[in-house]
Amino acid sequence: MASRGLEGVVVAESELSKIYGDQGRLIYRGYEIEDLAEHTTFEEVCHLLWHGELPNRKQLEELSGELARNRAVHPDLIELLRRTPPATHPMAALRTAASALASYDPDAEDMSPDANQRKAIRITAKLPTLTAAFARLREGKEPVAPREDLSTAGNFLYMLRGEEPDELETRIIDAALILHAEHGMNASTFSARVTIATLSDMHSAITSAIGTLKGPLHGGANERVMHMLIEIGEPEAAEAWIEEALGRGERIMGFGHRVYRALDPRAPILKRLAEQLAARGGNTKWLDISERIQKKMAEEMERRGRKIYPNVDFFSASVYYTLGIPTDMFTNVFACARAAGWTAHVMEQLADNRLIRPQAEYVGPMGKKVRPLDERG
Ligand code: CMC
Repeated sequence: MASRGLEGVVVAESELSKIYGDQGRLIYRGYEIEDLAEHTTFEEVCHLLWHGELPNRKQLEELSGELARNRAVHPDLIELLRRTPPATHPMAALRTAASALASYDPDAEDMSPDANQRKAIRITAKLPTLTAAFARLREGKEPVAPREDLSTAGNFLYMLRGEEPDELETRIIDAALILHAEHGMNASTFSARVTIATLSDMHSAITSAIGTLKGPLHGGANERVMHMLIEIGEPEAAEAWIEEALGRGERIMGFGHRVYRALDPRAPILKRLAEQLAARGGNTKWLDISERIQKKMAEEMERRGRKIYPNVDFFSASVYYTLGIPTDMFTNVFACARAAGWTAHVMEQLADNRLIRPQAEYVGPMGKKVRPLDERG
């Protein structure tokens, strides 16, 4: 009997993160996600994931410097994005550009641990640059060159908008990057590990992962959440919209999770960030709609006896929208963050590698004989 969707199947041992699905709890290498989101930066979390421990001041300065110095991409990659048709989905553009990064990486085919560490830094540093460059090029604007004096979060918003973000905006993106950096054996991480387990290479693994994250059942949900909020339009319309969508048997984007059967702990953190942004901007519409959806879904799911709660994508959507990130680029932000986790998993897989090769149970026909071409119906 096949295990559909590999649900509950343990395919690897990992020291990177643990999800307590029934408690709605997440830890990265022993640290609670709430603690990390409140007291660290994305750069510190990269160090934690890649090296096993939070950095001291000197280590942080070194890693932050390396990430900053590796942000710029080869001009050919900007040309590639310039020639990419503007209607291309930004995750498709990122997938192509991430693959092309390999051609300009001196360590592309070097599988040594040191080379993989360097590639982890370069890939994590460059994905935001590629995303922001495509955002501008498709609108006929020139890309904004990355700055080395800003954090990953601050520089990303700066490259998108051409203006330096303020402290709250930077802090919010930084927290969102931390929350999305790692999440166990999710679909995109699994695909990265399957790819690297063939002893392919880091860029191939990340390209596989980006393609996998793109789907609406995984990272693509945050974009769909925003479409839903826009379609609902006004807080008063939320309940009827949800009722009708559930009545049609549709899934509500931003709700449910394969592992969490309780509230995704990242959701309330993002909700608090959404509240801070809304309070400052004086526009609480998206938050109001989100809260009414959350309440309505809680009632509906209780009635149906289902443990379906908001996931990480539910509140990230309105946060990104309020920060002016294009809706179809929400999943790219997720990819930029998850690059830290994907690359950490690639290195963990290689440290104790075994080809990942499950089986399928054959349920097709048997005993057929080939008939000459002209005699086939
Ligand atoms: N809205 C309404 N019903 C739902 C939802 C939802 N969002 N999610 C699950 N259900 C129902 C589902 O229809 C099924 O009902 P039935 O048994 O009658 O067919 C039941 O709950 C169990 O669902 P499932 O398909 O066994 O659950 P799963 O573990 O395969 O699904 C999921 C996990 C994330 C794919 C699913 O909850 C979903 O499609 N959610 C919406 C998309 C989404 O928000 N994805 C982001 C996930 S979190 C971030 C990430 O991983 O990138």
